[in-house]
Amino acid sequence: MLGGDYHLNSKPVFFHGSKNDFSAKYGAYKGNYHVGKRNIWLRKHLKSIAFMFVFMGLFFLLDSLMVSIFDSANIRSSLAPIRSSGIKEENKDAKEGKEKSPVHMYDRLLNLASSALVEKEFKQESASFWEEPFQQASAWKPCADRKLPTSLERDNRKNGYILVSANGGLNQQRVAICNAVAVASLLNATLVLPRFLYSNVWKDPSQFGDIYQEKHFMKIMKDEVDLVKELPPDLKSVDIEAIGSLITDADLVKEAKPVDYIRTVLPVLLKNRFVHFLGFGNRLGFDPLPSELQKLRCKCNFHALKFVPKIQKVGSLLVKRIRKHDAARSTLDKQLIGNFMSGVPPKRHDVERNGPSKYLALHLRFEVDMVAYSLCEFGGAETERKELQAYRELHFPLLIERLKTSKPVSPIELRKLGRCPLTPEEAGLVLAGLGFKRGTYIYLAGSHLYGGKSRMDSFTSLYPNLVTKETLLTPSELAPFRNFSSQLAALDFIACATADVFAMTDSGSQLSSLVSGFRTYYGGGSAPTLRPNKKRLAAILSENGTIEWNRFEDRVKKMIEEGQRVRVRGFGRSIYRQPRCPECMCKI
Ligand SMILES: *[C@@H]1O[C@H](CO)[C@@H](O)[C@H](O)[C@H]1NC(C)=O
Ligand SMILES: *[C@@H]1O[C@H](CO)[C@@H](O)[C@H](O)[C@H]1NC(C)=O
Ligand SMILES: *[C@@H]1O[C@H](CO)[C@@H](O)[C@H](O)[C@H]1NC(C)=O
Repeated sequence: MLGGDYHLNSKPVFFHGSKNDFSAKYGAYKGNYHVGKRNIWLRKHLKSIAFMFVFMGLFFLLDSLMVSIFDSANIRSSLAPIRSSGIKEENKDAKEGKEKSPVHMYDRLLNLASSALVEKEFKQESASFWEEPFQQASAWKPCADRKLPTSLERDNRKNGYILVSANGGLNQQRVAICNAVAVASLLNATLVLPRFLYSNVWKDPSQFGDIYQEKHFMKIMKDEVDLVKELPPDLKSVDIEAIGSLITDADLVKEAKPVDYIRTVLPVLLKNRFVHFLGFGNRLGFDPLPSELQKLRCKCNFHALKFVPKIQKVGSLLVKRIRKHDAARSTLDKQLIGNFMSGVPPKRHDVERNGPSKYLALHLRFEVDMVAYSLCEFGGAETERKELQAYRELHFPLLIERLKTSKPVSPIELRKLGRCPLTPEEAGLVLAGLGFKRGTYIYLAGSHLYGGKSRMDSFTSLYPNLVTKETLLTPSELAPFRNFSSQLAALDFIACATADVFAMTDSGSQLSSLVSGFRTYYGGGSAPTLRPNKKRLAAILSENGTIEWNRFEDRVKKMIEEGQRVRVRGFGRSIYRQPRCPECMCKI
């Protein structure tokens, strides 16, 4: 446009004073213009040429800005305004319509995090935590469904029927089902399709067939365990309790060993032809256990339990809307959503036009039950103390009793010991410390956060692109799930397991634990999970008044990397959470 060899006396003005890296990037412009003959034309047009440069400079600046904030801008514009309908108010004040003032514990760190995020906005690099850091992770392949020549002999399984009523929510029930499969095999019994107990906490009448595909389950497990849908008619009418066939938690220790089952349960089974485990959960320990039974558990959890099409379909809607395209990308997608995602990879221009498709799923375990039970303090002073004490008195009478007789541990001590659930604020600081950009698309699992919206403020101030199933689905899509908390939890399970990155705040939670196991099993070494160590984090955050941001970042990154190391399942560890072991996965 500028044609020939015009001489410019001054450096292009528009690079002056720019703090961004433009002078470096476009340094080629500087002084590269050969001296040409001054002519009248130039003098005449100097003004307009300078103007052109200023204009072009602005254009470059704008363009570059657009590229670097593309992620966030794109997401923001394509989403409905961030609603918080997914985050339900738990506290009384909110119900009365009184706005609670936000509770912050780390104002200084929050400020540092905000400025760090603003700075990152202008850099092209993305956080390395989108990838799994350890290559060894991809050496482990799923293989719990392989056929074994030494498969258990099945001729003698005539010891009777096992009936199981699983308690708890979706994920506890899942564990119970697979433990029941192992117990049935151990006792050479026929397993009746597990029932789910109705609980006053979860208030969900869903049964096995409302959540999992019965036929698929029976087909996958039939070679190893005898399964029936119902008890035979002659056994149905028997008074289970009267004949002593009811087995409750009082009859079996937690994490019982096979020998406990042989001793306690087998005689009853042989005598009455059936036993009923009422409130069956984690009543089967992980070690020591014959590897055949361990394999069964693994096969059950990772291969036999598939969500029903109703859940898969809406689960796929969630994932499509977050990713903005509908192609299945990984084995994880295929396993969880089945055929509801197309197998066609997205066209390149679609991805470009539709913007980024990466997302991070966060399971923030900060519900009031957990918060109250922990006995920790979360910066809410007297109001919070009273509120949580009232909740404990109402819901945890046993805890209150225990507290009366035992020596109290101070909330400060509890925090040091890593016993306190992470607040939304802490979760946000960890993500910022790991280098996730402000525009990161975050799917928030669960919903009834303690403190409601005002508790989330510090998080959303760092990461505004927060979505939940309630914001991604229309009310009519959500309606068939409304009264079924387990089915809603299944949607969260899907969105978390198929996320590019999954972040948890509490590794003890069943959802987090099962989701991370799934990602280990089917993720092929490219489905990272972020698992903070609460004790280490507490130590880092205890320096919140003085620590520099760089130092904070380093320590948080080290902590998370430590949790991502590729290890073989340790003795006594859950095979559902850590499937990297010979009974579950094959190492190549
Ligand atoms: C189950 O059957 C196997 C193979 O027939 C046998 O070795 C085992 O002792 C039986 N166990 C029980 C508890 O009946
Ligand atoms: C959910 O339950 C409420 C009352 O418990 C009832 O009024 C409503 O119709 C139910 N909704 C669905 C979709 O079943
Ligand atoms: C934050 O830092 C202050 C000191 O500056 C300390 O007293 C406080 O305990 C720290 N907060 C937490 C939750 O560790």
